[in-house]
Amino acid sequence: MAIYFNESTRQFILRTDSSSYQMQIGKFGYLFHLYYGKRVEEMDLSYLLREVGRAFSGNPYEAGMDRNFSLDVLPQEYSTFGNGDYRTSALMVKNVDGSMETDLRYQSHRIYKGKEKLKGLPATYGEETEVETLVITLEDKVNGLQVDLSYSVFEKYDAIIRSTKLINTSEQSLTLERALTMCMDYSCPDKMDIITFYGRHAMERQLERTPLRHGKISVGSVRGCSSHHYNPMVILCNHDTGEDYGACYGFSFVYSGNFLAEVELDQSEQVRFVMGIADENFSFSLKKGESFQTPEVIGIYSSEGFHKLSSCYHHLYRKHLIRGKYRDIRRPILINNWEATYFDFDDEKLIGIAKEASKLGVELFVMDDGWFGKRNDDLTGLGDWIVNTEKIKCGLSKLCESINHLGMKFGIWFEPEMVNEDSDLYRAHPDWCLKTPSRMGNRSRYQFVLDMSRKEVIDYLYERIYAILKSANIEYVKWDMNRHLANVYSRTLPPERQGEVYHRYVLGLYELLERIITEFPDILLEGCSGGGGRFDAGMLYYTPQIWCSDNTDAIDRLKIQYGTSFGYPVNTMGAHVSACPNHQNGRITPLPTRGVVAMAGTFGYELDISKMTEEEKGIVKEQIETFKSYADLIAQGEYYRLSNAMEENVFYVAWEFVKEDKTEALLSYVQIHPQTNLLYVRIRWKGLDPRKNYKVEKEVYSGEVLMNIGYLLPVLQGDYRSFQIHIQEQA
Ligand code: DGJ
Repeated sequence: MAIYFNESTRQFILRTDSSSYQMQIGKFGYLFHLYYGKRVEEMDLSYLLREVGRAFSGNPYEAGMDRNFSLDVLPQEYSTFGNGDYRTSALMVKNVDGSMETDLRYQSHRIYKGKEKLKGLPATYGEETEVETLVITLEDKVNGLQVDLSYSVFEKYDAIIRSTKLINTSEQSLTLERALTMCMDYSCPDKMDIITFYGRHAMERQLERTPLRHGKISVGSVRGCSSHHYNPMVILCNHDTGEDYGACYGFSFVYSGNFLAEVELDQSEQVRFVMGIADENFSFSLKKGESFQTPEVIGIYSSEGFHKLSSCYHHLYRKHLIRGKYRDIRRPILINNWEATYFDFDDEKLIGIAKEASKLGVELFVMDDGWFGKRNDDLTGLGDWIVNTEKIKCGLSKLCESINHLGMKFGIWFEPEMVNEDSDLYRAHPDWCLKTPSRMGNRSRYQFVLDMSRKEVIDYLYERIYAILKSANIEYVKWDMNRHLANVYSRTLPPERQGEVYHRYVLGLYELLERIITEFPDILLEGCSGGGGRFDAGMLYYTPQIWCSDNTDAIDRLKIQYGTSFGYPVNTMGAHVSACPNHQNGRITPLPTRGVVAMAGTFGYELDISKMTEEEKGIVKEQIETFKSYADLIAQGEYYRLSNAMEENVFYVAWEFVKEDKTEALLSYVQIHPQTNLLYVRIRWKGLDPRKNYKVEKEVYSGEVLMNIGYLLPVLQGDYRSFQIHIQEQA
């Protein structure tokens, strides 16, 4: 049993294989947090609720003259604004009389096997045998707000998934000014750090670790999508936690819009963490009987360091978040024409590239931006999802047939959420954009953002995408988004509801995606936003893979993919071999190294293969065969980081995949700079069976030796050299 309520202590006990989570209905019906950490046997943990009188930390009226009972000091499960808890709050409600106070008390709870869907939102899923859910209902008797706190426990993955539903049971309207998904109070004795993943376009998810200090540290997005700049996945950990040891807590937001992740170290050395939709320009009005469902946060605890934490995320996502046919089968090796041609292509050029690629074993040809409307550069055409027959002279269906004839699947690019002023769509419906009345708006990449909160916009996009996808044998769609939201105003909502637009935009996006995958369940979707600007667990529910970054340089990718791997499985990371000098930074790297790095992702190519030399084509052919033979090991195996890619002057980056039964492993190594006159590099493998013997090249070593003593790596000369070593159990 993963969830249990002890009637006598009035404590809720949630347990996964390695963690425990405990809370208590306390005095006056307040719900207090007791513990989250390493699994312990059940015991009454109420001793942790120390009632300490602190000046300037007030007391609820019911506490009478007791100055020791303060919501500003006690650890709470879902903190609210305005009732004497001055720490960062999860909920802020404007009542009909203008007051901002909410006061929540326990009302009831229910425990059930399985997990219900979240209406209109992406969410983890599981059978009754795999997940159990607790819903605790709190209520404010004065303003009539009901709050359902939901906790779903996937024991096997040490995951506790939280979401919150806010229901107005009163006769009057309420306005949510802040409605975060979760609050977590730690009264732990350890010094803690926060790890965030910051970045920019073409340099996403750079790991940054910093100790907590008194006050608040936050990351988030007000860009309308999760963004390149901060990822909605953060880790709290002990100061001494490393890859294989120490406590850490991951929090991943299953949402693709604005977010806030904030941690506060308070006067009592307690830590509060909150996560949810950002409250900047957020407000949501709830009339009588209406409700607001927050997206969910996936919390995972590991007492064995970051590897275990990442591993739980990887396995959970692969089985309980990603959906569709491509969840479990190998994704096709693709070639994309973007960096090969940019906008300058026609059907013949595309077929030329596809022909060469098919000879080398590539399985899917993706036609990127530029095939529709009058799109010959990024100034025009977005919104006009009609094939440009000046470029695709033979028509889409024929082009697709020609590609299929080469033995390859065919895929296509869309950027549905956007419109250029120079487009038929904009000329017909200039009012379909997000735009503040009487203002000129904000262009970005020469485009405006469609108001995805409007039904007619979603219907138009669905109808256009449907027509294209039905018109040819299309088996893959790349879903791009190349600017952030600004001038966020919807003409269809009254002034007092404009704070809902950001969220309604995301709901519109999800609705459109859901309609498409329901109608075309066999199409593989790849998410994208100028590379990895919307790489989040929300998108993974619809698109099993996401283009990791517009930066295809193998060496920069080492850091980008390293950071991404903390929260997301490698088979979700779009990764391609591209041309050299690299188009983003001009770096020259050996073709084999580009292959090794792209193989730590979905693997594909993004260059004009027809311009490659015979020798290079030979290398590509070999890479494809290599990837095919390791594809399952890479996609389904256990992933280990063997070095820290963010270390200053990092000399090499290495990682490893181990098969579930430990009979096989693949080590990948990229040397950034050669080391002159160095004795040797010894690398310790991870995750092997210490009792098994493994054949490593021509030698045999025990798992114990490889993991504890290590393997001597060959000395490589030159920058950016790399190799892979595949080992197998020796019977
Ligand atoms: C941004 C994407 O990340 C690129 O791969 C490419 O599809 C361009 N957009 C096309 O405009």
